[in-house]
Amino acid sequence: MRKLLVAGGAGFIGSNFIRYVMRERPDTHVVNFDALTYAGNLENLADVAGDERYSFVHGNVADAEAVAGAMRGCDAVVNFAAESHVDRSIEDAADFMETNLRGAYNVLSAARDLGVERVLHISTDEVYGPATEENPRREDDPFKPRSPYAVSKAAGDMMCHAFAETYGLQVVVARPANNVGPYQYPEKAIPLFVTNALENQPLPVYGEGLQMRDRLYVEDNCRALLLLLERGEKGEAYNIQADNHRPNIEVARTILDLLDKPYSLIQFVEDRAGHDPCYYLDWTKLRALGWEPQYDFDAAMQATVRWYAENREWWQRIKSGDFRAYYDRQYGARLATARPYSA
Ligand code: NAD
Ligand code: DAU
Repeated sequence: MRKLLVAGGAGFIGSNFIRYVMRERPDTHVVNFDALTYAGNLENLADVAGDERYSFVHGNVADAEAVAGAMRGCDAVVNFAAESHVDRSIEDAADFMETNLRGAYNVLSAARDLGVERVLHISTDEVYGPATEENPRREDDPFKPRSPYAVSKAAGDMMCHAFAETYGLQVVVARPANNVGPYQYPEKAIPLFVTNALENQPLPVYGEGLQMRDRLYVEDNCRALLLLLERGEKGEAYNIQADNHRPNIEVARTILDLLDKPYSLIQFVEDRAGHDPCYYLDWTKLRALGWEPQYDFDAAMQATVRWYAENREWWQRIKSGDFRAYYDRQYGARLATARPYSA
């Protein structure tokens, strides 16, 4: 691999992935193609921006010409570009269809037309819909997405399958569980809870906090993604999970324990509409390629909480900008009618 296009590289996982690839593959030049939506932030890559093996192209995956222009000369492509927040898709999913389906189609079309050797598309565990530890989802199980976000991701994922079958494109699909770690936009539960706790603000836990998510440390995910980019089989999908499932209320308490803050900061607020109780994956296929997670729940949470505690400027700049209006819209009424924590 000599030249790699990363679409959506200025977001949470994309920026961690670029840093990881540049460290692990010194011969690789990375082109970061990103629209810099509210979630895209070039500060996430400030430490590699001056490296001659890195370049940035400002562009939108919904713009077919821009995608093809940036991809010319690349041997491989990884597509992270997405609208990624479930709550925003519940408010309005138009951008989700545009980026997560049309954008995926444009990336795949350009890769086919330009003869790109390897494409990795980032899907999600949410495409399967809810699942349990007793009945985990395998890669060939049917899709039952329940949120507008998950439906848009399922559509992009299925388009990859169509390109492998119809055009013989060397495309591999990754379906990771919930990631945690540095540079996650503070609309997501964990960075929101950690940064609110650091400011002695309430932690808004949806419903009773009993919904369950895996907590896959982002560096473990990046290691899996690079493996799949290099060794995944054409047309195949791979689940990625760390088996670090915990209910949201336990995650909130863990964060408060790590920061030595009181549980009274927890507020139970109105639940998310159509809230999926749990995702659970069978990741035998990925294990067969030699991958294992290195961060258990405690290690993932400690590393994550420490990073936000030590990088206040990064999240304070975001939280004092446009994020404020989103926060008030999403949580204003909810917090006014919240139920306080009781053990
Ligand atoms: P993010 O929201 O932090 O970042 C998304 C990035 O895509 C941003 O840099 C944004 O500017 C860019 N982008 C958005 N629309 C674009 C467009 N039209 N054209 C070009 N760039 C655009 O997302 P994330 O959490 O890093 O997720 C990355 C990918 O991984 C997404 O595809 C998401 O669906 C998937 N995923 C995320 C998780 C998770 O836990 N965060 C888990 C599984 C899968
Ligand atoms: O499972 C993979 C998915 O994980 C990715 O595909 C998505 O892009 C990513 O955003 C994430 O989706 P979730 O909806 O699981 O993440 P979020 O951080 O929004 O919520 C995690 C859990 O916490 C979920 O059960 C809802 C709950 N929650 C969330 C927020 C924002 C709260 O209790 N309070 C909150 O304020």
